[in-house]
Amino acid sequence: MKLALSCMTAKEDSRASVDSARKQDLLETQLSALFEVSSVLSRSLNLSQTLREVVEVLHQRGRLSKGMVSLVDRETGDLLVSVLHEGGVAPFESVRYQPGEGVVGRILERNRPWVVPRVAEEPHFLDRLGVYDPQLPFIGVPIRVGEEGGVGVFAAQPPARDDLLRQRVLFLEMVANLIGQAVRLAHMVEDEQRELREERDKLRRQVRGNHGFDSIIGRTDAMKLIFDQVRQVAKWNTTVLIRGESGTGKELIADAIHYNSPRARNVFIKLNCAALPDNLLESELFGHEKGAFTGATVQRKGRFEQADGGTLFLDEIGEISPAFQGKLLRVLQEGEFERVGGIRTLKVDVRIIAATNRDLESEVRNGEFREDLYYRLNVMPIHMPSLRDRIEDVPDLARFLVAKIARTQQRDLTVTDSAVRVLMRYRWPGNVRELENCLERAAVMSAEGIIDRDIINLAGLDVAAADHDLAMPGGPTPTVDLDDPNLDERERVIAALEEAGWVQARAARLLNMTPRQIAYRIQTLKIKVRQF
Ligand SMILES: Nc1ncnc2c1ncn2[C@@H]1O[C@H](COP(=O)(O)OP(=O)(O)OP(=O)(O)O)[C@@H](O)[C@H]1O
Ligand SMILES: [Mg+2]
Repeated sequence: MKLALSCMTAKEDSRASVDSARKQDLLETQLSALFEVSSVLSRSLNLSQTLREVVEVLHQRGRLSKGMVSLVDRETGDLLVSVLHEGGVAPFESVRYQPGEGVVGRILERNRPWVVPRVAEEPHFLDRLGVYDPQLPFIGVPIRVGEEGGVGVFAAQPPARDDLLRQRVLFLEMVANLIGQAVRLAHMVEDEQRELREERDKLRRQVRGNHGFDSIIGRTDAMKLIFDQVRQVAKWNTTVLIRGESGTGKELIADAIHYNSPRARNVFIKLNCAALPDNLLESELFGHEKGAFTGATVQRKGRFEQADGGTLFLDEIGEISPAFQGKLLRVLQEGEFERVGGIRTLKVDVRIIAATNRDLESEVRNGEFREDLYYRLNVMPIHMPSLRDRIEDVPDLARFLVAKIARTQQRDLTVTDSAVRVLMRYRWPGNVRELENCLERAAVMSAEGIIDRDIINLAGLDVAAADHDLAMPGGPTPTVDLDDPNLDERERVIAALEEAGWVQARAARLLNMTPRQIAYRIQTLKIKVRQF
């Protein structure tokens, strides 16, 4: 009896020591696998790539096969299988579980590990992946991310039905913790990138809005022709030469061409050729090497290089010297140049838009502008009409510009119809820029934010001059519908006076009033009567 007892103890002892050796062995294996998993996860930001490596490590080192990570799709809330060890070429990608569905969905919902001792005996096991051995256990644990809670499920299959399941669950939970950190990081990067993308798209839309056709006012035939030309020319890489008097909107058109062209996403570089002397212009356009000249302490890229892939706007091209014209011709012809002080020939892909208010043809005739450069630039000319040739656009322009000024002054501004009629009688030698400046001065002087004819007068646009010296010879005299119900009393009287050449009796007749009545109104409405 005693002998039998001591025999039993010896047997138990040896089983216990085998058990502890197995546990020890598993622990060591798991520790080294954990170390490798953590280094895999810290190597890259590509989440699916690292997760693939993780399940591979678990298979090779951690004695766990069919490692599977499914993550919650942030849009639908479903669990999508991200990686499956030995899952082949992603047939698993279409597999999804809703929270609470099957074993995997329940792990997410309950936010607790689940050990299935034998897959074949678990009625909730859906086996959607169809890869698991039905005779073996299955362990799944939730992947948690700090406050966010469960973001996925990590599961695997141990190699045998043994009594080490508890240790394995602990191990899987540790790995799931590490995966959670990686998912958190990936979410942060994803969110940040999405925000940046949204910001970029918003800015692009804004830039497009600012430089699109909506910001170019004009309904006259002359402007419709310009819009057609811009639409056509924007599609191609053709060199464009924008001609026109100062202030006619040449730069605005250059913007519209670039921002409506296939190059809109690339850079748009502008250079005013009149602003720099020849030597500076050269290094500005072509760049320079370090030490090329006194002061060139570092190498610098020129505008041509900066504009590579995009558009370069050469404003006031008529101002460049004959010597520089030759240098420009080469880069326009060959797309090639060297930095100042450099020997390496650089090649760029740049679309050129140039602008000038000079009469280049007569300068070519006088030998001041190279003929070959003229033909290079004049591939697609766009002639901006002067404002006096499209005076019918003044009302729209005035209202648009007043709204623009109101935005910068952050207050309400309006322009009266009688003020607009005055603006329409002027010849505008400085074109839209002069109109803009005139309205800005008027706005500054208008305490109430109403720009009427008197303020326009005070703002430097002499109404008398507008009607006489600089008035449009034979220009359109805008006729006003005196019965227009939108016209207020003051506007109606002014319109009638204008129509009647400021002869009060005639104006009174137009308004079906007596001369006495109109005189009274002129006085009470504080209309300044012009004396001729
Ligand atoms: N059609 C238009 N619609 C709205 N604003 C315009 C229009 N044309 C010109 N402008 C405005 O007038 C001003 C002058 O325009 P821009 O600078 O494009 O003229 P420009 O022809 O380049 O003049 P310059 O020859 O003097 O350089 C700008 O503030 C511009 O926004
Ligand atoms: Mg300009």
